Amino acid sequence: MTAMTCIKSRIMPLRSCEDIVCLRQTTRSWMVEPRFTLVEQTKMMTATSELARNAVNYGGGGSATLELLEENGRTGIRVVVEDQGPGIADMEQAMSDNFSTGQGMGLGLGGAKRLVNEFEIRSEPGKGTVVSITRWK
Ligand SMILES: Nc1ncnc2c1ncn2[C@@H]1O[C@H](COP(=O)(O)OP(=O)(O)O)[C@@H](O)[C@H]1O
Ligand SMILES: [Mg+2]
Repeated sequence: MTAMTCIKSRIMPLRSCEDIVCLRQTTRSWMVEPRFTLVEQTKMMTATSELARNAVNYGGGGSATLELLEENGRTGIRVVVEDQGPGIADMEQAMSDNFSTGQGMGLGLGGAKRLVNEFEIRSEPGKGTVVSITRWK
């Protein structure tokens, strides 16, 4: 039996590099009070940055929803990044390391997945992409 509560949430735009910096900083600041360690903060911020950069670089910009959660006495931080860009046609390829259609290293999606506890990605070609990452304390 799960009873998940959302303690607070905030929707933030993702259009520019400044927006990405702002999302990173807010994510970090929300992880301080629940006593996430510096390592946990850094992992979440790194994963968040990768998804945000993808939304800006490949998705034409979008938005991020930041959520502080509570479930069965534990605290979670969730970031949902979405865009209305071209979407991802071949998900297996996009998720695999070293695949990039841009100038990247192709480690963003796989790396982000390894840094968090929950990772969900949905994409529809022509409609856009939604990626949700969660880290539990
Ligand atoms: N939001 C997105 N919209 C469209 N395509 C994306 C999106 N995110 C990732 N991709 C595709 O998946 C590939 C792999 O992404 P990623 O692992 O972050 O590596 P990189 O950003 O270095 O290319 C990208 O090169 C791009 O083709
Ligand atoms: Mg990337």
